[in-house]
Amino acid sequence: MTIGIIGYGNIGKMISENLLKNNIVNEDELIISNRNIKKLDAIKNYYPDIEITDDNIMLSKKADKIIISVESNDLLNVISEIKENLESKHLIHTCAGVSFEDIEEVYDGSVSLVIPTISSSFTESDKQKGISLIVHNSKVNFLDSTSLENMFNNFSYVKILPSEKDIEIATILTSCAPAYISLIVKKFAEYGFDNSDLDYDECKYLILKTLIGTSEVLSKDSLNSEDNCDNLINTVCTPGGITEKGLNFLDLESDTMIDDLFDILLQSYND
Ligand SMILES: NC(=O)c1ccc[n+]([C@@H]2O[C@H](COP(=O)([O-])OP(=O)(O)OC[C@H]3O[C@@H](n4cnc5c(N)ncnc54)[C@H](OP(=O)(O)O)[C@@H]3O)[C@@H](O)[C@H]2O)c1
Repeated sequence: MTIGIIGYGNIGKMISENLLKNNIVNEDELIISNRNIKKLDAIKNYYPDIEITDDNIMLSKKADKIIISVESNDLLNVISEIKENLESKHLIHTCAGVSFEDIEEVYDGSVSLVIPTISSSFTESDKQKGISLIVHNSKVNFLDSTSLENMFNNFSYVKILPSEKDIEIATILTSCAPAYISLIVKKFAEYGFDNSDLDYDECKYLILKTLIGTSEVLSKDSLNSEDNCDNLINTVCTPGGITEKGLNFLDLESDTMIDDLFDILLQSYND
């Protein structure tokens, strides 16, 4: 089974590395295409048996499954370029904001959308992390859908959505959120650095370890309670204490901020 990946940017690289480093595909079962082929030199040096190219048509002839991970505006052009060679092949893309209806205008075969996240980037310590959202169009058969879900389940937690209806909100929660979480970590660490004798890396370490610990506690407890966020908040906040004052402030400010954030993001899907 040969997998072809078109587009070796942030996401194409993350998927390729996971496929190779987790031994999901053999080197000689992977073809990667990128517009600027120079970008593929490093991975080719590390994995000499993979095939690299800037010829999407050649890739589409050789690959059994094709994952397209180009900028969303380029997706339909790439599908048009390769569609003669798709026959009954399973086409997979990661391009946010492109609907199955948009794709049907140029190609009417079996198509799956995967919204991966940069949080699933390969690390030695923890193989499965981050969420991959998957939606299939009505033409994807059982074998192809299962094989795709299993592939991403090797290195991420797969969430299958029954339709595209909730994909935009889910994308914000899983694929945009790493950027927002990183910003919050950075802002906390910067404040600590600017206002204490701790250096930036020490402050970042303190907040990161707290973030990881908090997420583990919430994940563990969530198996046996309805919503443990409030429980954790109440455990940390002593009535009248400093945490509670901060919490009241954040609670007030964050409702408007989160509403505005989602408004901006959902509006930009329509632009
Ligand atoms: N970044 C994320 O966290 C994330 C998460 C979920 C979904 N997505 C979606 O995934 C897609 C890719 O995102 P990204 O962040 O990986 O983008 P990116 O870093 O800009 O990568 C896009 C890659 O596609 C290549 N490319 C463009 N046109 C091509 C063509 N015709 N043939 C071959 N290669 C071509 C570009 O090559 P050059 O090097 O020559 O420019 C570039 O390497 C986007 O549609 C995005 O909406 C991204």
